[in-house]
Amino acid sequence: TCCRAIRTYATAPGLSTVGVVGMGAMGHGIAQMTAAAGYKVVAVDIDANMLSKGIKAVEDSLSKVAAKAVKDGKADKATAEKNAADVRSRITTSGDIGALSSCDLVIESIIEDLNIKKKFFADLGKVAGANAILASNTSSFPITQLGEASGRTSNFLGLHFFNPVQMMKLVEVIKTKDTKEDVYKLGFAFSKSIGKEPVACGDTPGFIVNRLLVPFLAQGLLMLDRGVASVQDIDVAMMYGAGMPMGPLTLADYVGLDVCMHILEGWTSQYPNEPAFVIPQPLKAKVAAGKLGRKTGEGFWKWE
Ligand code: CAA
Repeated sequence: TCCRAIRTYATAPGLSTVGVVGMGAMGHGIAQMTAAAGYKVVAVDIDANMLSKGIKAVEDSLSKVAAKAVKDGKADKATAEKNAADVRSRITTSGDIGALSSCDLVIESIIEDLNIKKKFFADLGKVAGANAILASNTSSFPITQLGEASGRTSNFLGLHFFNPVQMMKLVEVIKTKDTKEDVYKLGFAFSKSIGKEPVACGDTPGFIVNRLLVPFLAQGLLMLDRGVASVQDIDVAMMYGAGMPMGPLTLADYVGLDVCMHILEGWTSQYPNEPAFVIPQPLKAKVAAGKLGRKTGEGFWKWE
């Protein structure tokens, strides 16, 4: 449950300060869970607006966690509020990647655009400490290429989280042929230390979850495009017929239609012969209209 966020776990050996870059839907959750486990967190976003929105999202989530702990009788109000304040106090913020120089581990969670990520890692490679471990939360790009861009291939790995990070227990840990074994092991230890369940995965498109999930979401949109069923009926069918917490169109909205589009664009251009990788017309139309799902208040559904 989300009460995990107010427990503290033993921190992984050798790690005390963790940088999280990009304070969007994923980054803010990674920062929160990392701080909740007792690490010092340096939260960086070059966009001041995103940085303050991300920190506000952390504070809102911490309030939910505190309220739930009180409701469930796990803590009294004062203790729950102090826990939330302690977690918040472990997060410092910056708009400058120079602030990451003191971090033992840096987790990148910026926009899903290969060239922007490569540029970021090239810059990070110049400022990160000599022994720092660098990780990407990319959903879909090769960890090998990002590691090469950083110039730190042996200290580089993938740590892929799921949205909402506060609730979803999985982390995919991805190594390349160059990732040192102790760095890879530390990726597992870190994930466990923040209350997650790590799985090992090769450096392949979409790793495990997105390679199965994103084509499924795309099939839901192709079904809508064929006029087989309505948005609501597709979602209700998959919730009640396949036991999913959210139907595919709700989940696409939740993940972000721009994120789904970025993933599928990357894959269709890199793997044009893979039939599972397609960009459905309704997805293109929503993104072109700026209706990106939950984050903009409307996608295939309206969100409060
Ligand atoms: N922080 C703290 N608490 C939170 C929270 C957050 N960010 N989000 C939800 N919660 C809490 C709620 O407050 C609520 O608490 P109470 O029980 O006290 O009311 C509890 O969690 C349950 O939430 P809801 O009642 O709102 O709804 P729910 O039971 O449907 O759970 C959900 C929400 C966990 C998101 C669930 O709908 C779900 O699992 N959805 C599927 C999510 C999924 O598949 N994610 C993966 C996306 S793919 C991805 O992320 C990879 C990628 O790279 C694209």
